[in-house]
Amino acid sequence: MIKAGLEDVVAGTSSICDVNGKDGILVYQGYNIHDLAQNSNFEEVIYLLWFGKLPNKSEYATFCKALQKHRSLNEHVINFMKSCPKDANPMDMLRTCVSVLALYDAEAQNSDREANINKAIRVTAQIPTIIAYFNCIRNNKPLLPPKEDGSMAANFLYMLNGVNPDDLSTKSLDIALILHADHELNASTFAARVASATLTDLYSSVVAAIGTLKGPLHGGANQEVIKTLIEIGDISKVDAFIKDLFANHKKIMGFGHRVYKTEDPRAHHLRQMSKDLGIKLGQSKWYEMSRAIEEDVLKEKGLYPNVDFYSASVYYMLGIPIDLYTPIFAMSRISGWSAHILEQYANNRLIRPRAEYTGPKNLKYTTIDNR
Ligand code: ACO
Repeated sequence: MIKAGLEDVVAGTSSICDVNGKDGILVYQGYNIHDLAQNSNFEEVIYLLWFGKLPNKSEYATFCKALQKHRSLNEHVINFMKSCPKDANPMDMLRTCVSVLALYDAEAQNSDREANINKAIRVTAQIPTIIAYFNCIRNNKPLLPPKEDGSMAANFLYMLNGVNPDDLSTKSLDIALILHADHELNASTFAARVASATLTDLYSSVVAAIGTLKGPLHGGANQEVIKTLIEIGDISKVDAFIKDLFANHKKIMGFGHRVYKTEDPRAHHLRQMSKDLGIKLGQSKWYEMSRAIEEDVLKEKGLYPNVDFYSASVYYMLGIPIDLYTPIFAMSRISGWSAHILEQYANNRLIRPRAEYTGPKNLKYTTIDNR
């Protein structure tokens, strides 16, 4: 029997990420996500996903240096960005700019593993700059050169806002990046693997993934969540809003998951971050409304929040523009996409499933005048 949406279909093997949907356990290369969120940082997690082990001190220093060194965009890419419509969708911009990066990468068509790792480093380092610069360009703000030190989270907030971020903001974003880094064969990663299995280049595979992440059923959900919170406006209006939504058979974004049948372990950390940031910034309203929605949705539908639900209020309190939430998801997931692309190239076979034909049969061609 064909399962719509390939539900529960095991489409390959991978050592990168294990999702246990029944018990709500998420593991990157053997390490539980709770352990990594509490103790690691995003740069270390990228290394772990790509190379299958945590780096030692010198490996870590070399890897961070490489990521820091490649943060700048060349002037052709910046000029291209300036020529684009200021009201462009940021995911369209990101997808297109990653394509443009390939035009100026001398190794773009080189398929050696080393060249692919170099490209993965460059595109991972440059995505935050593309996102921040696009926001500056559309708001007529200066483009600050990326810092040549510090974490990706700190540098991104610096380039976006033009000031050094405080420690809580940097730490919150860093943990969010860890939590979004990989998730087995989610839709965008699957798209990346399908593309790379044709032996197309890494950039083309990443572009396929970015286009897939954009959809509101996938990474686009985080933006819809904050719009819902803003529309509800006050905790006293939550119950009526949710009742009305479900009475009209509508979905609530940020809830439900194809694999998790219990709490998404990533939501646990994002919920706490939403609470902590709310207290620190005097904006607990978003956390409290989110909690009330969570209770209602669990009671009415038995659904749990996914990674997109609490990340929305976290990003909102970090002052990030709403339409950049999904690009920030990409800024993290590029680590997982790259890991899967490298794994696919290392043991490749074309991914080409079949479809059961349901169309008409045995029709006879008639000329256009006789139709
Ligand atoms: N709100 C209300 N009802 C829901 C929701 C929701 N968010 N999610 C699932 N349901 C209901 C469906 O209406 C359906 O009910 P029915 O059987 O009575 O028709 C049932 O639960 C199964 O839902 P499907 O959409 O078939 O589940 P599927 O596994 O195909 O989809 C998905 C998973 C896309 C995540 C879904 O839960 C959804 O649309 N959620 C909202 C969008 C979202 O938050 N996406 C982000 C997911 S996480 C990520 O990609 C990073």
